[in-house]
Amino acid sequence: MNMLYRAKPVDGIAWVTGASSGIGRAAALELARRGYVVAVTARRLPDLETLAVEAQGLKGRIVPAPGDITDEAGILELVSSLEAAHGPIVLAFLNAGIYYPLRASPFDAAAFRQTFNVNILGTVNCLAALLPRMTERRMGQIGINASVAGYGGLPRAGAYAGSKAALIAMVESLKFDTDNLGLTLQIINPGFVETPLTALNDHPMPFLMKLDAAAVRVCDGFEKGGFEIIFPRRLAYILKFLNLLPYRLYFSLIASATGWKGKKD
Ligand SMILES: NC(=O)c1ccc[n+]([C@@H]2O[C@H](COP(=O)([O-])OP(=O)(O)OC[C@H]3O[C@@H](n4cnc5c(N)ncnc54)[C@H](OP(=O)(O)O)[C@@H]3O)[C@@H](O)[C@H]2O)c1
Repeated sequence: MNMLYRAKPVDGIAWVTGASSGIGRAAALELARRGYVVAVTARRLPDLETLAVEAQGLKGRIVPAPGDITDEAGILELVSSLEAAHGPIVLAFLNAGIYYPLRASPFDAAAFRQTFNVNILGTVNCLAALLPRMTERRMGQIGINASVAGYGGLPRAGAYAGSKAALIAMVESLKFDTDNLGLTLQIINPGFVETPLTALNDHPMPFLMKLDAAAVRVCDGFEKGGFEIIFPRRLAYILKFLNLLPYRLYFSLIASATGWKGKKD
């Protein structure tokens, strides 16, 4: 196996998608603290501009780069113009994602499509813009934010967990190629982190993490390398273990732990 590239601020810039709130926003600030020029993408430009102001005085800086990751041509153009203006993207945190709690009945096919469009195909659009450039330079590190929800099925997570499971399998598969190209591909599988996304949950969220601590774990993971960045570890390992059990036990334990058993409404 080749030596895998590890990003450094002297080599080029960082790019964070989904940076107008939550984990992406906090990680962008942390990367700027660590000296990166960080291009930040999301649809809400005013929030990106506020973030850039908040980063003033840090070692690096934040550059708003608004965009919608589901816009294939727009993302190609965005990456091209970012590199022309600020230099090569050496570290990308593909973090943008959405979550709708959904049920089997009524079945909301549109919400499934939207979730897969943003979480999976939006991420594919970003990879399509990045990988040819990084491959040509043989220099690049990409972290993709999935979730421990991608390890196995969870109540109300049909679209979300399904999209995250797809991301995990997709990134595992691509890693066989990127390893041979010398590029670093990582999957980030957080448990529960306090963000607007988890504010939708009305079930218990064990080991809920503070946002700033999560951002430090993501950025430490980028510096250390290694394929999977997980936090909090306890929840991730419990879920990994539960997924090794026979389905009968898995469904029963998850239903009890989430208060789902016998739930009808
Ligand atoms: N919070 C958790 O406990 C947790 C756990 C595991 C995994 N995750 C994952 O972490 C990532 C961030 O989640 P979060 O909790 O920080 O949620 P969040 O605060 O809701 O942030 C989601 C971000 O994604 C952006 N986004 C959504 N659709 C987009 C699109 N089409 N194009 C560009 N940007 C888009 C949003 O910005 P705009 O609305 O401005 O576009 C926002 O900045 C997600 O992938 C999520 O699945 C979160």
